[in-house]
Amino acid sequence: MAFIVKKKIHSRGYYYLNENRRVDGKVKTKTLAYLGKSKKEAERKAKEILDKRSKLVKKEIKKDFLDKKEVVELSGIKKPTEISIEELAAFCKRKGFVFRSSEIYGGFAGFWDFGPLGAELFKNIKDDFWRFFVTERNDMVGIEASIISHPQTWKASGHLESFSDVAVICKKCNNSTKLDKSELGKVKCEKCGGDYEVQGEFNLLFKTNVGALEANEAYLRGETAQAMFMDFRLIQETSRKQLPFGIAQIGRCFRNEIAPRDFLFRSREFTIGEFEFFIHPEEKNSKLFDNDHKNVKLRLTDAQTQEKGKETLRETTIGEMVRENKLDEWHAYWLAEQLIWFERLGLKEKIKVREHMKSELSHYSSATFDIDYEYPFGSKELAGNANRGQYDLTQHIKESKENLEIFDEKTKKKIIPRVIEPTFGMERVFLALLTRGYEYDKARDNVVLKLPPFLAPVKAAVFPIVKGSKFEKIAEKIVRDLKQEFNVLYDKSGSIGRRYSRNDEIGTPFCITIDGDSLKKEDVTIRERDTRKQIRVKISNIKETLRGIINGEVLFDKAGKPFNF
Ligand code: GAP
Repeated sequence: MAFIVKKKIHSRGYYYLNENRRVDGKVKTKTLAYLGKSKKEAERKAKEILDKRSKLVKKEIKKDFLDKKEVVELSGIKKPTEISIEELAAFCKRKGFVFRSSEIYGGFAGFWDFGPLGAELFKNIKDDFWRFFVTERNDMVGIEASIISHPQTWKASGHLESFSDVAVICKKCNNSTKLDKSELGKVKCEKCGGDYEVQGEFNLLFKTNVGALEANEAYLRGETAQAMFMDFRLIQETSRKQLPFGIAQIGRCFRNEIAPRDFLFRSREFTIGEFEFFIHPEEKNSKLFDNDHKNVKLRLTDAQTQEKGKETLRETTIGEMVRENKLDEWHAYWLAEQLIWFERLGLKEKIKVREHMKSELSHYSSATFDIDYEYPFGSKELAGNANRGQYDLTQHIKESKENLEIFDEKTKKKIIPRVIEPTFGMERVFLALLTRGYEYDKARDNVVLKLPPFLAPVKAAVFPIVKGSKFEKIAEKIVRDLKQEFNVLYDKSGSIGRRYSRNDEIGTPFCITIDGDSLKKEDVTIRERDTRKQIRVKISNIKETLRGIINGEVLFDKAGKPFNF
């Protein structure tokens, strides 16, 4: 509850707006705003502030989540540690991570804009993907293909015929959604358990027209994969790669989803990061499949279990799955690499793997595994891994009449490589990182966004402890220097506590403060977001220290003692 208080300082009266909040069973008072020196002015300002706050919260709930009756506290922050997807969307909007597309026109379902912090975080995720799967390897090259390609692409790929979903509506509660064809008759309404009625089957490809005079129908790409198949020979020849090697791409894809939902999870425009790994068709074993891959642990729901109508998970290893003949070594190698990347991002513990049943395999796949993540709205697909075999190259050879075979030096024969395809929904990775990182910290009475430092949008915030040219001059110089290598932020407004809170909320892993001692000793404090511990570092060492700690070096030893910087 908010109330006005008068404080006497040197016999003069000052009015403040305070609020009592219950934290850990105890009532704590927090000052919300300074209201001025007169009672009348204070009452007017307080009313204005409280009206604005309650309107803001109501507007947020009404506009974004008409169908939800979420209770959001006045501050807009709900306290449980597990955030709902609606709260996450509101948080992302409030902090400038993600906005609805065309907000001024009331939004546009299935389309989203990344704001300044979101764009930075998203870029860092894509860069890390690229580093891990492309530039750190010798057997992978990247491309960036056009979004619209020759319409025959989609005939050859099978998307024109088979890339469709079935729109259904619940007979009991009118919930409309989409189902995969293989789910028809087997799945009940996710909201009330009622039976679904089929509304129709819809192809997911977005149509467009190319050219003005003789407009030709074309399609926005529904997956990035096709360019990697169509350009396969050109890429192989120009990059001089020998089998086995892969072609990777990150790019926007478009699907005319029947029921976009769950914030970024199911949208109509989204980003896929994927690669096609080309292997000699007779090569079943992989030289790269070593103990690091065999020993990767996972929780698996296999096809047989699901065919019996169950969803039981069991603990297994990639090596064990190969022994059970669920997948060959190359397929297993890539599934393991995907899980290793997710471990690097800190997402592994909420991941499970689901083997596709024969009845639900895509038209191009002979074996598929979904990598699911426990989102706040359930365990859902984050990434996938399909054995596409020779399907796509063969289809493009048939449709284009071009020769996409390559010459095998060993057997002196022409061959069509087989393909393993690991694929990632990049917005879904973004969403998983935010749900994993979001934490309401009771002690701080504030949100702390625990993003891994190497992905955080802002790497460090630099504060002069008090306003004043001496402090500001040093801080500005540090910012100028750091900005050449890192995205850092300069913040000189508000109390130090408030500046820490603002940065904790957006996931800034380190705060650098220039204080009184800095002037004498030429050093600063670096405060860690997650532990709130601080250490002093010489100004000349900040850059190197930051470089190290962003990439996983630690500031403190196991006993909590700071290392010497
Ligand atoms: N080339 C293979 C392919 O496109 P997919 O499973 O259809 O496979 C790849 O899509 C990934 O894209 C999925 O694993 C999922 O993470 C993501 N994805 C699929 N549909 C999406 C949508 N409507 N919105 C956001 N991400 C989506």
